[in-house]
Amino acid sequence: MKINKIAVLEGDGIGPEVMKEALNVLDIISKKNNINFDCNKGLVGAAAIEVEGHPFPESTKNLCNNSDAILFGAIGDPKYDNNPKAKMRPEDGLLEMRKFLGLYANVRPVITYDSLLDSSPLKKEIVKGTNFVVYRELTGGIYFGEKYISKDRKSAYDTCSYSFKEIERISHLAFKEARKRKKELTLVDKANVLETSRLWREVVQKISNDYPDIKVSYLFVDNAAMKIITNPKDFDVILTENMFGDIITDEASVITGSLGMLPSASIGDKISLFEPIHGSYPQAVGKGIANPMAMILSLGMMLDMSFNLKKESEIILKSIEDALKENIVTIDINSKKYYSTSEVGDWLSKRVSDYLS
Ligand code: IPM
Ligand code: MG
Repeated sequence: MKINKIAVLEGDGIGPEVMKEALNVLDIISKKNNINFDCNKGLVGAAAIEVEGHPFPESTKNLCNNSDAILFGAIGDPKYDNNPKAKMRPEDGLLEMRKFLGLYANVRPVITYDSLLDSSPLKKEIVKGTNFVVYRELTGGIYFGEKYISKDRKSAYDTCSYSFKEIERISHLAFKEARKRKKELTLVDKANVLETSRLWREVVQKISNDYPDIKVSYLFVDNAAMKIITNPKDFDVILTENMFGDIITDEASVITGSLGMLPSASIGDKISLFEPIHGSYPQAVGKGIANPMAMILSLGMMLDMSFNLKKESEIILKSIEDALKENIVTIDINSKKYYSTSEVGDWLSKRVSDYLS
């Protein structure tokens, strides 16, 4: 029987708490459908700095290299945030991991659930029905360009650079995704100012000839930031570079009503990584209040995209929708009547199990 090897990187903050619930769901799927998953844990982030002295240590590199997919919790620890001179940061582990594993395309679906509309900071009628996905380039741009700080710390720079190839490979993924959706792709850039953005436009214009069925539009990032707030329903697939993608995906995530609901995938040629986008949420650690849904939905994305287990992935999604309808939710979704992380996780495991039998 085929063994599906999964590297489990819980990371920091609430990572381990939400991962536990996702692994319970995976266990149910494994037993009920007789699918073999070999899950192995590795350290990453602050947890890895403490034990191994590096946020993405060799042992974790090897584990990832020998796995078919990576399930990732969260990274970050406030201890490092306000220290600009810190030699090592948990986030460096994440960036190194993206580069090392070639995870070049970050896919972040932005989906609204009707039962959460009241929690959105936007008016219901603006946000209802929003359903788009952001394809953010993840291993290039200003994140990975040449960096410099002068010895006297009086000047510094970060360079943004992109190659034709880097733009081309993620663009193809985004065009293919648009084909499965409403066939609309928006390139978000700053082509009125930046050379890299002009290159993005050139490449996307060229590639669009291969996809005549896709309607392509172009938006400057500042304008896109406004439109995400005023007309989020207008978007289908957004394609953008690394830094712009970082910013607009955070913006997009909050309009849905809960950050705790959004999964993501980081796609590479050989391996892909799946993680909730809520981050390490240090204030919630150990309190049993973290929302495990984004982590469980990330598991669902992994089953679909890395193991082609579409039915199981859909069952996870259906179970989450059921939980929302029946109000089996954590405090971030309903502050009056709520359940703990493990109560929500157990309920979801049970529901997944019921659907499978
Ligand atoms: C994200 C995060 C990371 C990023 C940080 C933690 C380095 O904000 O995944 O969006 O900026 O890419
Ligand atoms: Mg971010």
